[in-house]
Amino acid sequence: MDIKLDSLVYHGAHLLESAQDYADEVSLNCVEGTALESRQKKELIRHYESISKQALILVLNQEGLHLQMLRPSFYRIKVDFCDPQMRYRISKGGGRGQMIAKALGVKNNLNPNVLDATAGLGKDAFVLASLGCSVKMLERNPVIHLLLRDGIKRAQSSAANDELLKQTIDRLTLLKSEALEYFGQSNLRSIDAIFLDPMFPEPEKRAQVKKEMQMLQYLLGDQLDASELLTAACSTEVARVVVKRPRIAPSLSDKAPDTIMEGKSNRYDIYFNLG
Ligand SMILES: C[S@@+](CC[C@H](N)C(=O)[O-])C[C@H]1O[C@@H](n2cnc3c(N)ncnc32)[C@H](O)[C@@H]1O
Repeated sequence: MDIKLDSLVYHGAHLLESAQDYADEVSLNCVEGTALESRQKKELIRHYESISKQALILVLNQEGLHLQMLRPSFYRIKVDFCDPQMRYRISKGGGRGQMIAKALGVKNNLNPNVLDATAGLGKDAFVLASLGCSVKMLERNPVIHLLLRDGIKRAQSSAANDELLKQTIDRLTLLKSEALEYFGQSNLRSIDAIFLDPMFPEPEKRAQVKKEMQMLQYLLGDQLDASELLTAACSTEVARVVVKRPRIAPSLSDKAPDTIMEGKSNRYDIYFNLG
């Protein structure tokens, strides 16, 4: 797989072991950066550009593993289940009544076992796990998988004094896997619902918050097999398949969904497998 980056830069000799592990896993050069990350953005860009000619690098510092874009904009992301936005989403996001929960079949005392076949940065999986669902996450891109693994590891260490976070993280499992292969090779009997959230090309020049999606699009390229993924998910024995789409996007299949739940910006297309 073309992963569009060649280097991992770590800031601080104490991070060498983790940095080397991560770099080996995705076959990147592991390079020590300046001892302290410079506060000057221009200097930092120059520093990273002296290490890699690619538009993306991985950066490991005290705060975790980041995917850093150098061009066209200087922007970084990491998986952070403890950041204020995620905290807000968990405490004020509508709980078990929110659309994603209803779409996946969360109700009364029922907490479905979910297979999130397109885990990405794990936000949806984390929300579902916070509501009580056990979520198995599949991610095929090795770099995204690594970011996710690092985010889970950091959340585990923050969870020592946070019972809710601990319970939520304990409900997540992560596998580096191509979902199409996983469906064919695994016993899915314990799974109540498959969740799919494939990439959808974002129109250019959207607000700042969309930079994250643009960066992922650059890393992941065109993902042209999303319809195939839906067909494969619907051919499994799992009773419910849920596809998250932008509200205005066409559906992924010629087959009409059995139910559609529509929100302000997203839509959930639900397919039932009656066996
Ligand atoms: C839009 S992101 C998912 C975002 C995620 N729902 C979240 O809340 O962060 C889509 C992810 O699915 C992954 N993906 C797409 N097709 C896949 C497949 N067939 N098997 C495994 N992962 C896949 C992509 O690599 C990408 O990271």
